[in-house]
Formats: sequence, C-alpha cells, structure tokens
Amino acid sequence: MTEANLGGRYTFPGTNLTVHRIGYGAMQLAGPGVFGPPKDHAAALAVLRAALKAGVDHIDTSDFYGPHVVNQVIKEALHPYPKGLVLVTKVSCVRGPKGEWIPAFSREELTAAVHSNLKNLGVDALDIVNLRAMFSIHGPAEGSLEEPFTVLADLQRQGLIKHLGLSNVTSKQVADARKIAPVVCVQNLYNLAHREDDALIDELARDHIAYVPFFPLGGFTPLQSSTLSDVATRLEVTPMQLAQAWLLHRAPNMLLIPGTSSVKHLEENLAIGSIKIPPQALQELDGIAASAKAAAPQH
Ligand SMILES: NC(=O)c1ccc[n+]([C@@H]2O[C@H](COP(=O)([O-])OP(=O)(O)OC[C@H]3O[C@@H](n4cnc5c(N)ncnc54)[C@H](OP(=O)(O)O)[C@@H]3O)[C@@H](O)[C@H]2O)c1
Repeated sequence: MTEANLGGRYTFPGTNLTVHRIGYGAMQLAGPGVFGPPKDHAAALAVLRAALKAGVDHIDTSDFYGPHVVNQVIKEALHPYPKGLVLVTKVSCVRGPKGEWIPAFSREELTAAVHSNLKNLGVDALDIVNLRAMFSIHGPAEGSLEEPFTVLADLQRQGLIKHLGLSNVTSKQVADARKIAPVVCVQNLYNLAHREDDALIDELARDHIAYVPFFPLGGFTPLQSSTLSDVATRLEVTPMQLAQAWLLHRAPNMLLIPGTSSVKHLEENLAIGSIKIPPQALQELDGIAASAKAAAPQH
C-alpha cells in the first residue's frame, strides 16, 4: 500500500501526531446496536490487523462501543501498539442494560470514562479524547460545554490525555472550548448528502483543525443516490469508494474514519486515495446534497 493510497499525511495542529488522511472507525466491530461482542470475533481481529498492515495509523473508538468490547478487541488485536498509531476515543455517555445511551458528563463520570478507556486500550495516556455533546439526539445543538471540557483539560494536565477534540458540536461550542484548551479535531456527521457543516469545515481548515466526519458512508442508513451510482460507474469505482474520495477532495483538513467489519470493504476503503474526480463529476456529486435537501419533508 503506497502512501498516496492512504490520502497523504496530516499533522493534528500543535501536536507531534501525524496520520494518513485515511484511517479506520472501529464502531462497526461491536454487536448489533453497537452493543455486545462482535458477531465474529476472529473477523474483528482480522480487520484491525489488516488495517494496520496496510498502513492505517489512525483508529477511532470509544469505551462506550460494546461497551468496553471494541477497545478490548483493539487491544487484543494490536497491543503492543506500533509507534505512530494514533488511537482517538470519545467520552460523554455510558450504556444501559439494554444498550441505552445515557449521558454522563459529571466530573466523576468523565474521569471514570477516561480511566476505563486507558485500562481497556492498555495505554498510560490517551492520544486524543473527543468530548461528544448530547444536547440533541438529532445533531449539534447549542449548550455550554464549559464544565465537562474543563474536566478533560484537567485530566490532560494530569497527563492522562495528550490532546482534546470535540464531537457533535456547533461552531460556537468549538470557539468556546478553544478558550479552555486547544482543540485538535472535530468529529461531526457529514457526508455527500448531509452537508450542514460546510461552513464549519472551512472555518476549521483556516486554523488547520482536523474535521473527521462520522457516518461518512451514511452510517446506519447507507448513502443511496442514482447520481452517485452513475458517476461511480463512469469512474469504475464503487459508490461507497466515490463517496469517500469526494470527502478527501472536499477539504485539506478532512480525515476519514470509515467503519467496516469486513476485510473486503476495508481494502476498498483504503484504495480510494488514488481516485481522481474530474470537475464535471465533482459538480454532479455536489448536487446530491441539494436534491436530498429539496426531497426532505418540510416542517
Ligand atoms: N462521534 C460520534 O458521535 C460518532 C457516531 C457514529 C460513528 N462514529 C465513528 O465514525 C466511524 C464511521 O462511522 P460508521 O461506521 O458508523 O458509519 P459509515 O462509515 O458511514 O458506514 C459504515 C457502514 O458502511 C458499510 N461499509 C463500509 N465500507 C463499505 C464499502 N466499501 N462498501 C459497502 N459498504 C461499506 C459498513 O458495513 P460492513 O461492516 O459490512 O462493511 C457499515 O454498515 C465509526 O466507526 C465510529 O468510529 C462517531
């Protein structure tokens, strides 16, 4: 796997952490509903090992995937970790007995979450911890993150966290958090059909802060678009490969963490760095979000 196929390299601002722009998101390794163990434990180990073998050096995870299970599988597959591997985790909630996502933002809960990530990943310090806002289930919504972000900044000063990021946040929340501690990345929902963050991406690019879209392929509702399929056929790639290549083209601060539980899909995803999108095709792909918006029910 050549470097170009992993989209080139990116250094998180103000850090010595440099990663390929194409990484891997581990959430799909948990059981159904991101709850419980992987449906195929050996396959989960194989996907992680194949990713590293291909040069992936950026893995996104959380101790609330499973819960605990995904971090434990990462540790089993990859520990001791090779030099240069960046593990990014997130905190903000715990799981209930039926898999419920229960917000957990108090000092005690955040501290416990950081310790649980350290233990289950088997590290002394976490490379990057994202604070995931939960003011709305539908997406970013205004609300103060001052208290919980201050707790994470304290844990950073104690040496348990190297760098901080944010998830599911607004532009104002990013600006407010940066007054407390440096923010190296933002992880929000964004893909070809959901482009609410266009302005935020450009804003972050100006300060070289990484933008790491979750659900880059649509997540639990895979992207479906006849335009995407038609352009992909013309370029002789799959629609999912093209959706990721479009993200790489979208902005220089875009880092990818597509999720998959399959080695075949992993290989497809790691091959997208060499896809060239001609201007006419780019224009057609840019039209997808506009038509998705027009088709959405108006409230
Ligand atoms: N911060 C947050 O709130 C948040 C929320 C959600 C996710 N995340 C992170 O973002 C990462 C990415 O999101 P995601 O995994 O939920 O969604 P995603 O990457 O948009 O989509 C994953 C889905 O796409 C399928 N897929 C992957 N590669 C494919 C390919 N080449 N061809 C066809 N299908 C393919 C996967 O199925 P197979 O398993 O069959 O390949 C899976 O069903 C997660 O792993 C997680 O680390 C963060």
